[in-house]
Amino acid sequence: MNNSCKKLSGLFVALFTIALTLISADITHAAGAGTAGNPDAGGKIFKQYCAVCHSTGTNKIVGPGLEGVTTRVPQPYAEWMHKWIKNNAAVLKTDAYAQKIFADNGKVSMTVFDGTLTDAQIDDVIAFLANPPKEESTASAGANTGGAAAAAGTEDEGSHITMVLLIVVLALLILTLVLRSVRKSLQGAVNKMKGIAPPADRTLWQDTKYWVRTHKLATACINLFLVAIFLVYGWEYLWGIDVTPGYHPSQPINFSHQVHAGTNSIACIYCHSGAEKGKVAGIPTLNVCMNCHKGIQGSNPEYKKEIEKIYYAAGWDPAKGAYSNPSHPVIWNRVHSLPDFAYFNHSQHVVVGKLQCQKCHGPVETYTTDQQFAPLTMGWCVNCHRETPVHMDSNGYYTKIHQALMAKYPGKTITEADMGGLECGKCHY
Ligand code: HEC
Ligand code: HEC
Ligand code: HEC
Ligand code: HEC
Ligand code: HEC
Ligand code: HEC
Repeated sequence: MNNSCKKLSGLFVALFTIALTLISADITHAAGAGTAGNPDAGGKIFKQYCAVCHSTGTNKIVGPGLEGVTTRVPQPYAEWMHKWIKNNAAVLKTDAYAQKIFADNGKVSMTVFDGTLTDAQIDDVIAFLANPPKEESTASAGANTGGAAAAAGTEDEGSHITMVLLIVVLALLILTLVLRSVRKSLQGAVNKMKGIAPPADRTLWQDTKYWVRTHKLATACINLFLVAIFLVYGWEYLWGIDVTPGYHPSQPINFSHQVHAGTNSIACIYCHSGAEKGKVAGIPTLNVCMNCHKGIQGSNPEYKKEIEKIYYAAGWDPAKGAYSNPSHPVIWNRVHSLPDFAYFNHSQHVVVGKLQCQKCHGPVETYTTDQQFAPLTMGWCVNCHRETPVHMDSNGYYTKIHQALMAKYPGKTITEADMGGLECGKCHY
């Protein structure tokens, strides 16, 4: 009897170890996201930054489908792709292959990721592209219609792991209950053979208490382990609060940046004129829309229906050609929103820093519904300030500071961090 009990508890321990390994594999997996060439982490980055323009199949979105890309780019592919993803504009200047794909893709530029992705993240994406999962090709084909796929994908993996954990826990619970009743009936049979009274009818709770009292070390380990899981998940959850890249609310008028900034090449600044002047880029007023839409009524029924909403809002009567109806303000849903205690100024970045809108907002000219591209966390701001060299020639106002800095750090590239871009007071009121 003693022997079979030992065997059973051995089995139990073995199962528990399997569960432990599964869980800790998951934790190291999550923690390993930053190490070089992790294809899982690369998959997430791909969905967030690349899937708006690339599929992992053969179909073209904005850029070519990336199936088998590692075999067609100049070798060694890891080196070439790293340079290309980091700064394709620089590679284009000298590299014949780059010039060829640029021409083949209608001279549409890819986003420069220098400053957005770290070197390690770029290696992760390359590792992912060297070995992409097969089913991706159809899934990401839909990414160009709104970029919704970017947000959806990352959640899959998390829920998959949670499912595995739940199943393991459930299986262990059932096993415990089964073993308990087996032990009880065995004990009963043994007692009967020996001619003593059947074992006391203890409840599950009493049994558990007894086990805890007699297995102090194991109980402590289990408790410690549960606390650790709680902390790890709690930590990740807390970091994720209010961080919403990919957020794309629906809008009262189905305005498409792809149609305006993409197909019709209207400059961002034409509508968001505040971006060069001051803190807020601003959303254009209906007057700006009407500059064009008095004339442009839409070439298909779907466009016509949406453009009529502008007329309704502006109080424009297209039949009379006059603003003779009552107006109804359009309430756009705000996509980007920093907390009030953080100060962000567009002109500092767009005019002085000479940064492209796309650097922070992604390939807006391909969005059919507007979406948040960057995480907008403090780490995101600060990382870019550490990595981005400032334009020394940009602004007379800064010449003195720039010269002083160059004297202080001879031979070093001066980044925004050296200019005081890490000082709390620059970004916090
Ligand atoms: C704004 C759209 C856009 C985004 C975003 C984008 N790309 Fe590209 N990519 C292109 C275009 C367009 C080309 C073709 C070359 C050209 O026209 O400059 C290209 C070419 C490439 C190539 C070479 C393809 C070949 O056939 O040799 C690779 C590799 C690549 N991109 C990887 C990436 C990765 C990785 C990301 C995400 C980190 C990314 N791209 C994000 C548009 C984009
Ligand atoms: C024809 C006018 C027009 C042009 C051109 C245009 N936009 Fe917009 N943009 C809008 C309107 C209207 C909204 C509000 C509706 C929405 O969010 O889709 C908006 C919203 C945005 C937002 C999100 C605002 C928020 O709520 O946080 C960003 C970011 C943005 N535009 C960037 C750009 C960039 C970058 C370009 C150039 C590639 C550009 N826009 C070109 C009209 C325009
Ligand atoms: C510089 C000219 C211009 C301005 C300014 C402009 N549009 Fe447009 N808009 C166009 C053109 C061109 C089309 C494409 C019409 C077509 O193909 O039938 C279009 C199409 C549309 C459509 C239908 C396609 C889609 O995006 O779903 C909507 C809705 C629309 N515009 C809303 C707006 C709003 C709202 C504003 C103001 C924030 C605005 N437009 C400002 C030129 C402009
Ligand atoms: C350095 C990164 C960065 C660059 C470059 C940048 N933006 Fe922004 N943009 C932001 C941030 C951060 C917010 C959120 C601001 C807030 O909530 O106060 C934002 C918000 C916006 C909004 C929402 C309305 C507003 O101003 O709060 C629009 C529209 C917009 N940006 C358009 C543009 C356009 C157009 C360009 C290029 C001319 C551009 N942005 C360049 C980071 C950037
Ligand atoms: C894509 C890179 C990038 C991102 C992202 C970015 N910045 Fe900047 N920022 C710059 C550069 C470059 C400058 C320096 C412009 C110059 O002086 O040449 C700058 C300057 C500034 C300054 C002025 C500092 C000074 O010395 O006066 C402030 C404040 C600032 N950024 C705040 C923010 C905040 C807040 C965020 C995040 C919401 C942010 N930045 C995100 C690149 C970035
Ligand atoms: C380059 C701009 C920038 C600098 C420099 C900066 N912050 Fe922040 N900080 C931000 C932004 C933007 C947020 C809002 C982030 C969010 O909503 O996730 C933030 C958020 C915070 C928060 C709230 C917690 C959080 O992460 O949301 C605290 C606390 C904070 N900052 C403290 C500091 C301190 C202390 C310093 C100086 C060592 C500092 N910050 C320097 C931009 C900056």
